[in-house]
Amino acid sequence: MKELTVKTNITSCSLDELDDKTQRLINMAIKATENSYSPYSHFRVGAALRLENGTEIIGANQENAAFPVTLCAERTAIFAAQAQHPDQPITEIAIAAANENGLIEQPISPCGSCRQVMIEIEQRYAKPMKVYLYGKQAVYIINTAKDLLPLCFIDESMK
Ligand code: THU
Repeated sequence: MKELTVKTNITSCSLDELDDKTQRLINMAIKATENSYSPYSHFRVGAALRLENGTEIIGANQENAAFPVTLCAERTAIFAAQAQHPDQPITEIAIAAANENGLIEQPISPCGSCRQVMIEIEQRYAKPMKVYLYGKQAVYIINTAKDLLPLCFIDESMK
């Protein structure tokens, strides 16, 4: 019997330590929180992603009175990107959120369903997707979405 350890590398920094392009993407995610439709949770989430060719796409959570129909900010952006630019890998994604008091202090992390979608995009293009999680107190950087979902289920798992 042996114990296996799963390790995730996360870089924590402040927004102003990041280069201009990265700050721009995070600021787009912050701005995208304003596009959230969240009359039920009042939790506004914004996402901004960049494709390999430099195209930037935003998303925001879209809620519904039939709660499970709600779609997270990350997936609205990812699916829009995939629908419009199917030949383009997503190289980075930034996520920000606000509650009734404004932008949240600590970074939020994508839900399990979004993580599952993110790792499949990485698989599809065989390219890592860098993830920036914004909070007023810190920005977390994860170099590949796969690190957010240890022991993930992927197509390889079925072989
Ligand atoms: N939400 C996101 O958009 N992204 C996340 O990573 C976590 C949760 C949304 C879904 C729902 O509209 C609201 O936040 C509260 O769960």
